[in-house]
Amino acid sequence: MYCDNDISRVLLTPQQIDNTVTSLANRISEDYADKNLLLVGLLKGSFVFMADLIRKLTVPCRTEFMAVSSYGSGTRSCGKVTITKDLSVNIDDCDVLVVEDILDTGITAACVTDILSKRNPASLRLCSFLDKPERRQVPITADYVGVTVPDEFVVGYGLDYDERYRNLDCLCVLKPEVYSDKA
Ligand code: XMP
Ligand code: MG
Repeated sequence: MYCDNDISRVLLTPQQIDNTVTSLANRISEDYADKNLLLVGLLKGSFVFMADLIRKLTVPCRTEFMAVSSYGSGTRSCGKVTITKDLSVNIDDCDVLVVEDILDTGITAACVTDILSKRNPASLRLCSFLDKPERRQVPITADYVGVTVPDEFVVGYGLDYDERYRNLDCLCVLKPEVYSDKA
């Protein structure tokens, strides 16, 4: 791995990630047979997971992306979360599945699901590749969770620190000194 020095350990190998995504895709395919599935990926962190997940689904689906930010000012905000890129389709009659990389405090997912629920989807569920329940600040649980992780900063498989490490093919714990140096 190109960044071996920054990583304290590997949490999930590519094979473990693949098994996790396969089992999520199987459950989702079963639950969404005969539905009008629209996957809504939250950028940027979910794009790698989303790409793998959709290729393992055995039911028809459409994909959309949203981007949200915890900072900045915008017209549509929910608490500290602001939509920086909204959907380009109407979600009336869609069975919406929000796809997150990691459920941490839960604020992002709670806010996004709150906003989307007001647009009258046929159904609305949440799928998160990772769950870090120790950090939760709002009471939200995902309908589909890949792996529960400890309260450590993880990178790889789409997750970044300062926009780096997203391209790692495994999920890794970042050495605290990598980010505390810059605090
Ligand atoms: P909340 O707290 O709203 O945040 O659930 C979810 C977003 O926070 C980012 N996040 C992380 N990113 N390693 C990362 O690379 C982590 O350990 C981590 N914890 C939270 C992530 O962007 C997620 O969508
Ligand atoms: Mg991030």
